[in-house]
Amino acid sequence: MSGTWKAVELMEGFYWVGAVDWDLRDFHGYSTHRGTTYNAFLLEGRENILFDTVKAPFFDQMIERIASVIDPSSVSVIVSNHSEMDHSGSLPAAVAAMKPGRVIASAAGARNLSMQLGFEGVEVAADGSRTAAGDTELVFMETKMLHWPDSMFTYIPSRKLLISQDAFGMHLATTRLFADANEESVLLEEAGRYYANILMPYSQLVERLLAKVASAGLDIEMIAPDHGPLWRSGTPTGPGWITGLYARWAAQAPGRKVVIAYDSMWRATERMAHAVAEGAAEGGAVPVVCGLRSSHRSDVAAELLDAGALLLGSPTLNGDVFPTVADLVCYLGGLKRRNLTGGAFGSYGWSGESVRRLEEALTGMKVRMLGTVACQFGPDAGALSRCRDLGGAAAASISGP
Ligand code: FEO
Repeated sequence: MSGTWKAVELMEGFYWVGAVDWDLRDFHGYSTHRGTTYNAFLLEGRENILFDTVKAPFFDQMIERIASVIDPSSVSVIVSNHSEMDHSGSLPAAVAAMKPGRVIASAAGARNLSMQLGFEGVEVAADGSRTAAGDTELVFMETKMLHWPDSMFTYIPSRKLLISQDAFGMHLATTRLFADANEESVLLEEAGRYYANILMPYSQLVERLLAKVASAGLDIEMIAPDHGPLWRSGTPTGPGWITGLYARWAAQAPGRKVVIAYDSMWRATERMAHAVAEGAAEGGAVPVVCGLRSSHRSDVAAELLDAGALLLGSPTLNGDVFPTVADLVCYLGGLKRRNLTGGAFGSYGWSGESVRRLEEALTGMKVRMLGTVACQFGPDAGALSRCRDLGGAAAASISGP
């Protein structure tokens, strides 16, 4: 043991024993410019319980934090709320070190742990089931597809504590473990980026989950997600703050923002993008222009969270869209932002397929198309005027706040 890592007590006998990953900049294709944390939690009691683990390279940090409070071999129960490897990666090493009598996961979690890690002997927690671990009662709630089939929450009634794995989390490397110790603007930005890039495709399930939590009548004083800070009641950024945001984001109502994402070869499509933005602004919308040499795909996804329209621009390259735009279309297609209007634009030298391809892609994303503008070589005044009109049509099509 190095003596570097200590547990952080969050409430009496409940500790953060996770890891801060200051250097993470890519989480399977999502740009994590502020790093992240992998949260694991230790609850002391007649039986000591560990909730989730950390990404495999951070095992030593987790075990040392646990050892700063208790003998790790005294952990008798491990709950795996989510089997993605940033939370399960240290599970085999943790089990080898602690030899807990019980490892608990959802049915899908038990299957995943077997297939991913060759880990057997998991006790399956059914949706809504309860179990006693020493003097602590645990209540399990499946949250399937939020965001994996195995995902579940664990609620601890005696602590009014909801351990929520990825849900309500964010990628933010910080040692300020409560949300209210961080700047609200950062929380809003990073929770939104997380929702847009991880949870947006499952928004209908988020709505159902929020209703399920409400109907269960859980008394929640603290939400402990597996990434980023915790939400505690009695503060401006408590459990109600983040669940309220989730309700708003899950509704996917169109806002006044018009997102214009493009790439360009000889600045012709770029000039068209700026004309679209001018038209959108003139129409009273809020344009956000994302040139794809400087904006990451996950930045565009985050901008879409409160947008009302999406306009994509690309030159034609070798009979198709530009590669950066193809990447964006692939990514956004999976995230399934609903209730958008949109359009496509671009320049071409001779064959001119890009705008038609973008139109097909946007239609496939269920974007209500307002129009397209294609021009050969650089846009003349007429083409730029049509781009302004397209931006104006986008502004006129949305009426959100
Ligand atoms: Fe943080 Fe889905 O893993």
